[in-house]
Amino acid sequence: MMNAVLLKNPGQPLAFSEVAKPLPGPDEVCVKVKAAALNHRDVWITKGQYPGIVPDLILGSDGAGLVEAVGENVPDSLIGKAVIINPSHGWTDNPSHQPDDYQILGLPKSGTFAEYVIVEAQYLIEKPAHLSFEEAAALPLAGLTAYRALFSRADLRAGERVLISGVGGGVALFAFQFALAADAVVFATSGSEEKLNRVLKMGATGIANYKEEGWAKSLGKSTPGFDVIIDSAGGEGFNSLINLAAPGGRIAFYGGTRGNIPKLNPQKIFWKQLSLLGSTMGNALEFKKMIEFVDAQKIHPVIDEVFPLEQAQQAFDRMDQGKQFGKIILQVG
Ligand SMILES: NC(=O)c1ccc[n+]([C@@H]2O[C@H](COP(=O)([O-])OP(=O)(O)OC[C@H]3O[C@@H](n4cnc5c(N)ncnc54)[C@H](OP(=O)(O)O)[C@@H]3O)[C@@H](O)[C@H]2O)c1
Repeated sequence: MMNAVLLKNPGQPLAFSEVAKPLPGPDEVCVKVKAAALNHRDVWITKGQYPGIVPDLILGSDGAGLVEAVGENVPDSLIGKAVIINPSHGWTDNPSHQPDDYQILGLPKSGTFAEYVIVEAQYLIEKPAHLSFEEAAALPLAGLTAYRALFSRADLRAGERVLISGVGGGVALFAFQFALAADAVVFATSGSEEKLNRVLKMGATGIANYKEEGWAKSLGKSTPGFDVIIDSAGGEGFNSLINLAAPGGRIAFYGGTRGNIPKLNPQKIFWKQLSLLGSTMGNALEFKKMIEFVDAQKIHPVIDEVFPLEQAQQAFDRMDQGKQFGKIILQVG
């Protein structure tokens, strides 16, 4: 048996329960989870906002731990290895988009908010030595999404001006750290003065509070426009991002936290020769490149708060209230 966090049904509080310990199939491994991390996706799922939710679902896309057992087709040499799990399943090499049968760990397949998780061996990558298990668990989903949006889709180059909107978000903060490591000139917006002060200390060139009246006009006056903008809010504020983009700018977006974008102005977009780039997660090669980048640059993910697995509900409430700066972690065992 093992302990796990279960979503019995959407809208119900999370249950910390004992369930059967899973066994690996021929191509799979059993990972003893040391730490897991929350993504907004997990919160959306608890509210029933994703299709395919099954009763008693074990949530969680992000995890790091030790390989405890392997299936018959997997080499025994993996046992005991410290690993990070790639939650992006079924998308091998097509750089353009994910396949129809693409899945993200944690729905519908049982996820990482448990003492053990089963994944195919192909989705493991060795944990870089400079990362703790908590930092390693923070990386997978958000780091991958940030990496693809920033580098594969927006093609960020050193010296370019980049704006990260809603920098307090899990993916956004990785985009911020990755852009700094890539020698871009990085600006950020947030609805929190405290979070803006944090990113100023981390190396932001400029900041703006998107809750303040006229923020986009003032920011626009202080820069000649942004070559790259990374966003996950959508909504009305997206039009300000179009105004802030430099001619030829690329806006990559991976979320719609603030809903549909009203009154999108086609003239502004085509006259400025802008590229609007939708982006989702990333493929196996991008995951590998992201981990290599983090290892080479010795990037440490920002950890907001660490909760024991049995306090998962408090961790979910914190994310739902948007209080976090960096990743919210569940410590397992
Ligand atoms: N397509 C994909 O592959 C993919 C992957 C991951 C996430 N997502 C989506 O992307 C979104 C963010 O995910 P996450 O896990 O990073 O969530 P998160 O950690 O909860 O971050 C959400 C952030 O949104 C920012 N925000 C809220 N209102 C905003 C506004 N009006 N303008 C600009 N920013 C605003 C806030 O930033 P401040 O706190 O700084 O104000 C907040 O921290 C979610 O909608 C999620 O479903 C998509």
